[in-house]
Amino acid sequence: MTSSTDFRQCPEPVYPEYAFIGRSNVGKSSLINMITGKKALAKISSTPGKTRLINHFLINDEWFLADLPGYGYARVGQRERKKWAKVIEDYLLGRTNLMSTFILVDARLPMQESDRNVIHWFGQQGIHFTLVFTKTDKLSAQQLAENVAKYQTELLKFWEELPPVILSSSRTGLGRDEIIRFIVGANRHFRP
Ligand code: GTP
Ligand code: MG
Repeated sequence: MTSSTDFRQCPEPVYPEYAFIGRSNVGKSSLINMITGKKALAKISSTPGKTRLINHFLINDEWFLADLPGYGYARVGQRERKKWAKVIEDYLLGRTNLMSTFILVDARLPMQESDRNVIHWFGQQGIHFTLVFTKTDKLSAQQLAENVAKYQTELLKFWEELPPVILSSSRTGLGRDEIIRFIVGANRHFRP
């Protein structure tokens, strides 16, 4: 629908909205394409840091999906990074129709510094999120279970309660139904 450099340019907040955020290259655009069933809705690239705008998609005339710029991209300078952190924070704090955010993390990796910072920021602000593990097709069931358990142990060092967790793969479609079910359920609670 639109690409915004700033949350003030985002579409009128008339529909419930769900944001997708994660480290650059975590598989956000692939996941968005997988859950919407559109192969090329969000641009996928092998070059990290492709999504630099807040991209809005209107789904079924019912809800907004917001693809947020990836964080933690090493080749982005300090100044640029601060600027983007401000854009994303303003959006997350100011977007009145935001129902929840999906924070995507790579199932293959231990908790990354930038993920830890983002998750803690959400916790401190009291903003609802769901943790989505991506690229699970690259791991055995056992490896996956171990990695998720380690992640949760990390989180429990700081938080009493664990966020909801969804396992996903844009290759196999794992997680699609669960994400859609969550969104459809939450849509019922939206008051414009
Ligand atoms: P930026 O917008 O650049 O920050 O990246 P992104 O988070 O949108 O990631 P994108 O969807 O562009 O995917 C990055 C790379 O990971 C691509 O090469 C994808 O093909 C690959 N990828 C994404 N999701 C999956 C997945 O579920 N399984 C596997 N095996 N590869 C994936
Ligand atoms: Mg992307």
